[in-house]
Amino acid sequence: MMSRMVVFFFAFLSLLAGSQIYAAPANEIVARQIGNLQCNINRLQIVTGLAGLQGTLKNLASESASDAATAASVQTAQDSVTGAQGAIGVIAKALLTGQTAPAAARDQVAGNLTAAQGALTAINSSDTTVSATLQKALTQLGDAATAGEGVVSNCK
Ligand SMILES: *[C@@H]1O[C@H](CO)[C@@H](O)[C@H](O)[C@H]1NC(C)=O
Ligand SMILES: *[C@@H]1O[C@H](CO)[C@@H](O)[C@H](O)[C@H]1NC(C)=O
Repeated sequence: MMSRMVVFFFAFLSLLAGSQIYAAPANEIVARQIGNLQCNINRLQIVTGLAGLQGTLKNLASESASDAATAASVQTAQDSVTGAQGAIGVIAKALLTGQTAPAAARDQVAGNLTAAQGALTAINSSDTTVSATLQKALTQLGDAATAGEGVVSNCK
């Protein structure tokens, strides 16, 4: 599913490159939703960033399998990231079908990213392997959140 979304976003970018969208007045609403280049770069970054984060969380889950408290927090973070990806899927589908993206979906992306951060920062593991992977996950989460802020400010 994620790779299909990435393809969709690349399709957006190539549409923009052809600039046919902007040339067609009848499609003004669609053009607005398709957004500018920076907007689409940020969309792509959040999609690819969350996919990468899920990969890191999968590693973290197996590294912390013997530590029940950490494993539970990792599971919560994984569920939250899956929730954010689901909400992004709702937004992408709306964009692709020329409909207004539901405002609630954007809040769900932000809410889930905040929940994932809360779960990860609560982890208290003395295992150095877990700590290193956790740091990587937090960095990826921070980058995805920054891309999300870029979407909010650049996709108008
Ligand atoms: C996370 O996303 C799902 C949809 O994928 C949504 O139902 C849920 O309310 C979101 N959680 C938060 C905390 O926003
Ligand atoms: C964190 O874990 C260490 C040992 O791994 C423990 O001594 C400490 O009390 C824990 N802190 C919290 C807040 O759970």
